Amino acid sequence: MTDCQDGEGAKTPMELYKRLNEQGEKVRSLKTANAEKADIDAAVQMLLKLKTDYKQVTGQDYKAGCPPSENMVVLDNGPATDGADEDDTVDPWNVSTTSAKGVDYDKLIVRFGSSKIEKELVDRIEKVSGQKPHRFLRRGIFFSHRDMHQVLDAYEKGKSFYLYTGRGPSSEAMHVGHLIPFIFTKWLQDVFDIPLVIQLTDDEKYLWKDLTLEECRRFAVENARDIIACGFDINKTFIFSDLDYMGASPEFYRNVVKIQKHVTFNQVKGIFGFTDSDCIGKISFPAIQAAPSFSNSFPQIFGSRKDVQCLIPCAIDQDPYFRMTRDVAPRIGYPKPALLHSTFFPALQGAQTKMSASDMNSSIFLTDTPKQIKNKINKHAFSGGKDTVEEHRKYGGNPDVDVSFMYLTFFLEDDEQLEKIKQDYTSGALLTGELKKILIETLQPMISQHQEKRKQVTDEIVRQFMTPRPLNFNL
Ligand code: TRP
Repeated sequence: MTDCQDGEGAKTPMELYKRLNEQGEKVRSLKTANAEKADIDAAVQMLLKLKTDYKQVTGQDYKAGCPPSENMVVLDNGPATDGADEDDTVDPWNVSTTSAKGVDYDKLIVRFGSSKIEKELVDRIEKVSGQKPHRFLRRGIFFSHRDMHQVLDAYEKGKSFYLYTGRGPSSEAMHVGHLIPFIFTKWLQDVFDIPLVIQLTDDEKYLWKDLTLEECRRFAVENARDIIACGFDINKTFIFSDLDYMGASPEFYRNVVKIQKHVTFNQVKGIFGFTDSDCIGKISFPAIQAAPSFSNSFPQIFGSRKDVQCLIPCAIDQDPYFRMTRDVAPRIGYPKPALLHSTFFPALQGAQTKMSASDMNSSIFLTDTPKQIKNKINKHAFSGGKDTVEEHRKYGGNPDVDVSFMYLTFFLEDDEQLEKIKQDYTSGALLTGELKKILIETLQPMISQHQEKRKQVTDEIVRQFMTPRPLNFNL
């Protein structure tokens, strides 16, 4: 088929594409034949290298079945079809892996074509903001980005930006995992002193779930209370429900329509896996999640300015929406939004899947009592410890698969204390019960405080946050 067998000589996009197809085939057949793990790993490594080369040469992600062409618009490499990442599923609706350590995030970066947040970038954020980097940055919980250097370059030259994040209000109950993007966004708002818009996609949840419009609208308001309790500055933050704001803002709807005109059904099928039997509301929804990335969707905040750069902190499963957004942006005359991606918050039962509000036992809810928190962790948190105390003392535990340890990396502020816990657990000096106790004592006050703050969020405060109005900032 092609004379380039080793990947080295392949230079043109088409040669690389053919080479990638062959390598994908090779990985698949090795797996089918149950070949040696080392052989499979080597073939996968080669595949990943070819993908990186392809991306470098074409500026686009390799997608099986889509040969490169001059003007092709590749929005996404879609679900892996090459056999390399078949153990990890990551899209806006599913997150799962067979590995107890969780999703392989380095592979995900290659697959999605984003960039790793290297130490250098963390140092730069520290320098530009003048603040110690948030623990989520220090510990690689926000691990991937798009165009963050560009945002910082502009900020250093006195050109500011705004933040956009969101939440799909699928139930009244939020769990601790839901707080991750909001805790981080609050930090970004504070250190950069910038405006923030928060989209509550009650329309999305109506379209996807078996809920009435009234329920979705109510969950949006209830969730807004939890979000406000994270401490956002009312003078710099606008929270909106799609069901309300779409009708209230002609400018927002204009952007939605512009986006809709520039994305084909074929493209969203490729990105989101929609099928012919999905309702048309789902098919056009991505345009609604894309529109807040453009500043003129909020005339009350930005006037008619369409050039204010947007930065989106979100969990990596939301990236498909923003790959689409970034592809459309230049074609409708807007800057591409930049992104900061986080890892997932693991379920109590283990990092094979993320915490889910629909599974009571997999989650610690923001409404849980201290006793419930204690029982859930003691009963359900997957342990990397050994079966007996004797064995544990002798061989030590494995923090890489231990859910209590993982949760501490999210919530324990003190780096030295965390490192000590890790060492003691690995050596066997610290037992699983003791580790769980530390976690319980970290989460109980954190959640009680959240409940206290939430109580102080009155209906009037919610109404103010959700009223379209000018915000206080200098761009
Ligand atoms: N679709 C997201 C969810 O289901 C909600 C959302 C809307 C969002 N806009 C966003 C999340 C921007 C992060 C960033 O949770």
